[in-house]
Amino acid sequence: MKAPHIKIKPPGPKAREIIQRDDRYLATSTKTSPLAVKRAKGAVVEDVDGNLYIDFTSGVAVANLGHVNEDVLEAVQAQLQDLWHFAGTDFYYDVQVEAAELLARLTPGDFPKKVFFTNSGTESVEAAIKLARWNREGKQFLAFMNSFHGRTMGSLALTASKRVQRERFAPWMPGVHHVPYAYCYRCPYKLTYPECDLWCAKTIEETYLRGLVPPKELAAIFFEPLQGEGGYVLPPPGWTKEIERIARENEILLIADEVQTGIGRTGAMFAVEHTGVVPDVITLAKGLGSGLPIGAIVFDARLDFGVKGAHSNTFGGNAVACAATVATLKIIEREGLQKRASVLGERMHKRLEEMRTLFPIMGDNRGIGLMRATELVHASEGKEPAVKERNQLIDEALSRGLILLPCGESAVRYAPPLTIEEDLLESGLDVLEESFKALPKAS
Ligand SMILES: Cc1ncc(COP(=O)(O)O)c(C=O)c1O
Repeated sequence: MKAPHIKIKPPGPKAREIIQRDDRYLATSTKTSPLAVKRAKGAVVEDVDGNLYIDFTSGVAVANLGHVNEDVLEAVQAQLQDLWHFAGTDFYYDVQVEAAELLARLTPGDFPKKVFFTNSGTESVEAAIKLARWNREGKQFLAFMNSFHGRTMGSLALTASKRVQRERFAPWMPGVHHVPYAYCYRCPYKLTYPECDLWCAKTIEETYLRGLVPPKELAAIFFEPLQGEGGYVLPPPGWTKEIERIARENEILLIADEVQTGIGRTGAMFAVEHTGVVPDVITLAKGLGSGLPIGAIVFDARLDFGVKGAHSNTFGGNAVACAATVATLKIIEREGLQKRASVLGERMHKRLEEMRTLFPIMGDNRGIGLMRATELVHASEGKEPAVKERNQLIDEALSRGLILLPCGESAVRYAPPLTIEEDLLESGLDVLEESFKALPKAS
């Protein structure tokens, strides 16, 4: 049967029963849609009541190869026959080395690299924080407003996206300074690109490093090449290069958080490739294992801890997750899925721009590759964030068979699998258009 196909308005009776039990036993987290999934294949998701949906989320930018990819499944099944776990930090096995070799080769930078495997994005960021402090006399960090780097106590100190993420958890890790990001649609300096001459980057050196924190007190600058959770905000050309220049000239490590942007999502294996910037450390997770939990940091080998016990974990480099990683990276490379993401992303953007002529509430369509978003605003009120309408849009889409996720204050993100069939992508965009049509007219 073809998606979308809605037999019963979600949540149906089986979904409602699961949601009720979930509410009773699971900690409150970030759930946004009453969708109870039974199975998923490619870009199609089936819920427990038999509804079929088109997935524009990839399970939050994880299933970049589509759900239950056959080749990854085969690699995982073969690995399950031989070895599940043997503490890859304490012992040796081939598949972990193979995954590290692939990452060292595929990440930007023509220099020897090393890898530390983790179990999630936040754990990758924690490892990067420790690696930076280990190497640098300065122990403080520069990060960006609106950024999201995770929710454990180190990464949370870098995160500055939504107040609720930090509220009641202070004191945060000390020594993190936040500066405005290059959010051109809502320029923090009320300037316009390119006349601004990248003031938001230049002022970091001219204002913050001059008057707030001496560069030698800094261990690293953490940045997302394209802000994810904070609203899929894409900096203008030249911004990332300028950040790199500031880091280099002031001898500060540059750490690219590619947890969400990595693994082909933006039309390149890693988003920094679009900018020509070569970071000292790249943090990864999400799409790395196609749905098996694994993260990594890939870094200049000269930064290695070099002392046993300084950093380690139990599950990092789990054999089954590494088998999924090796298969994932090889498939993307073999099939050129980054390029596919670019082509489909352009097509998606064109459709979104057409829709924007019909719906003034679509304030800004932005992104790159298959990492795109629309910021919803009340155009008549000068870009006032249309939060209620954004939430309604996500509900309308779900009830028509399209799965969406929010980001930023009033944006909706589009991150379908890179393998999504062209007709399914078009059907998804048709549903999106219908959903915009269903919003109240006054915007
Ligand atoms: C850029 C970025 N860094 C870190 C994280 C944290 O990853 P995790 O949820 O796996 O801890 C996320 C999650 O959305 C992310 O988008």
